[in-house]
Amino acid sequence: MNKLAGKNAIITGASKGIGKAIARRLTQEGINLVLAARRQSALDQTVAELKKEKSGEVFGVSCDVSRLADLENLVKVSQDQLGKIDILINNAGVSSQYPFERQPLEDLERLAHTNYLGYVRLSRLVIPQMIENKSGAIINMVSGSVLVEPVPRSFLVYSSLKVGLRAFSKGLFWEMRDHGIKVTAIMPGVTDTDLTGKLAEITREQKERLISTQSIEDAVIFALTVPANVCPLELAVINQKTPWVKPVIPFAQQHPK
Ligand SMILES: NC(=O)c1ccc[n+]([C@@H]2O[C@H](COP(=O)([O-])OP(=O)(O)OC[C@H]3O[C@@H](n4cnc5c(N)ncnc54)[C@H](OP(=O)(O)O)[C@@H]3O)[C@@H](O)[C@H]2O)c1
Repeated sequence: MNKLAGKNAIITGASKGIGKAIARRLTQEGINLVLAARRQSALDQTVAELKKEKSGEVFGVSCDVSRLADLENLVKVSQDQLGKIDILINNAGVSSQYPFERQPLEDLERLAHTNYLGYVRLSRLVIPQMIENKSGAIINMVSGSVLVEPVPRSFLVYSSLKVGLRAFSKGLFWEMRDHGIKVTAIMPGVTDTDLTGKLAEITREQKERLISTQSIEDAVIFALTVPANVCPLELAVINQKTPWVKPVIPFAQQHPK
């Protein structure tokens, strides 16, 4: 018997890339989903695609995770549609790769509010109900860049916020475990999503250093199906050929002239 069927989950950043791949996999497992992203059109398309899978129920809620009011609305709509929330997958994120002195100032707040505060706030909003149910699973999409010390050049703000998110996740695990709530940080290496697909002149060698979303889906399923008394605290999913000492995709290629 599939032990995930009938569970309810929220996934942020679910209209494309890693979030969409996880959503497809979870609906195939019979999990009911509320998907969140900012752009309604992409969200509607994703919901329509996933409904064809004919498994769990799927709803889309337009939500900017950098805005508290949107997150509160997301939780309310999810509870209205699905009832209790068993699983929260915090995944929405934006990338920004600049040498620090050239990074636009508005980027700093956008990154902090989306890639860090959005995760913390949504966890805070969902956890009271999980505590009441004495069960729940929170998965935070961190980044393989946190494994590099010091964090990669041109990726300083993004990566240092992910370092903070990793620390938050680990701490949350300890604080939540007595309530029966599991917390897992997934740390993907550079992944073949729209983000990397759009890059100009990606070389074959660089393409070989990307990982597929499938490996991250597998990590999510692993985290959700281990025995009740086990929690995979951190799962790093890294390409065997990752060159730790230099960026997989150099800055100049991210921003072609
Ligand atoms: N791709 C990689 O190589 C890689 C590696 C390590 C970690 N990660 C992490 O994995 C996560 C997903 O990355 P991805 O590659 O799948 O990105 P992606 O393909 O660019 O997709 C990002 C998703 O997040 C949504 N999103 C962005 N900003 C949002 C906001 N403020 N509020 C709500 N939704 C928002 C986007 O939809 P809208 O634009 O419509 O909002 C989209 O659905 C991110 O946290 C990223 O940091 C990615």
